[in-house]
Amino acid sequence: MNIIEIKGLKKDYPLGTTTVHALRGIDLSIKEGDLYGIVGPSGSGKTTLLNVIGCIDFATEGSVTVGGQEITSLSDREITDIRLHKIGFIFQTFNLIPVLDVLENIEFPLLLMKNQSRSEIRARAEKLAEEVGLKEFVSHRPAELSGGQRQRVAIARALVTNPDIVLADEPTANLDSVTGEQILELMREMNRVEKTTFIFSTHDQNILKYANHLVKIKDGLVAEQ
Ligand SMILES: Nc1ncnc2c1ncn2[C@@H]1O[C@H](COP(=O)(O)OP(=O)(O)OP(=O)(O)O)[C@@H](O)[C@H]1O
Ligand SMILES: [Mg+2]
Repeated sequence: MNIIEIKGLKKDYPLGTTTVHALRGIDLSIKEGDLYGIVGPSGSGKTTLLNVIGCIDFATEGSVTVGGQEITSLSDREITDIRLHKIGFIFQTFNLIPVLDVLENIEFPLLLMKNQSRSEIRARAEKLAEEVGLKEFVSHRPAELSGGQRQRVAIARALVTNPDIVLADEPTANLDSVTGEQILELMREMNRVEKTTFIFSTHDQNILKYANHLVKIKDGLVAEQ
């Protein structure tokens, strides 16, 4: 089954008096529970594509279906709901909350969801912290962690709500190559254990081998899948 179906997706950005055609007609199907790598030169549209799938940005034209829902036709409230419940995000710059410790960062999306008790939330966050190898670090703040450990927190936070899809835009760009490979190894493990669909983008040829499917993007189009 395809968890994401994209047809004729175009995205334009106004830039001064001109228009940037960031995506020029993307057709793409993503299978549920699989691990995808998106690769392409700088400016080819990788971030734009992930942002549209994640409902952070919106299509200019075309259709994007996530979990059977056509996202271009949804209300703001439904979009917020999808972002919170169905999608987890991992960013290049980690985007952790500096004043919260590891466990509190992982718990954060569950607190926003407001549908579990405090003790259920704590138990779920502790489970995820352990799965990503941070059991000993739960009371550290982000500044007291290495880059790789920070990205582990981000992975746990992305998975804590049990989303259908995790989107990771250049998750290893700020990590050394050994740590980057460990992070991808962890994503692969989490993909296996949690059956979550993962889509990551990268410049790094070394981590492409972790993907089960490769999507090559060039000039806002899928060059190869
Ligand atoms: N907010 C924006 N306003 C105007 N143009 C934008 C905006 N965001 C992206 N673009 C343009 O859209 C195109 C695609 O950008 P995008 O960030 O998706 O590329 P990318 O493949 O992620 O690149 P990189 O590998 O450098 O991260 C580029 O030409 C970029 O300059
Ligand atoms: Mg990018």
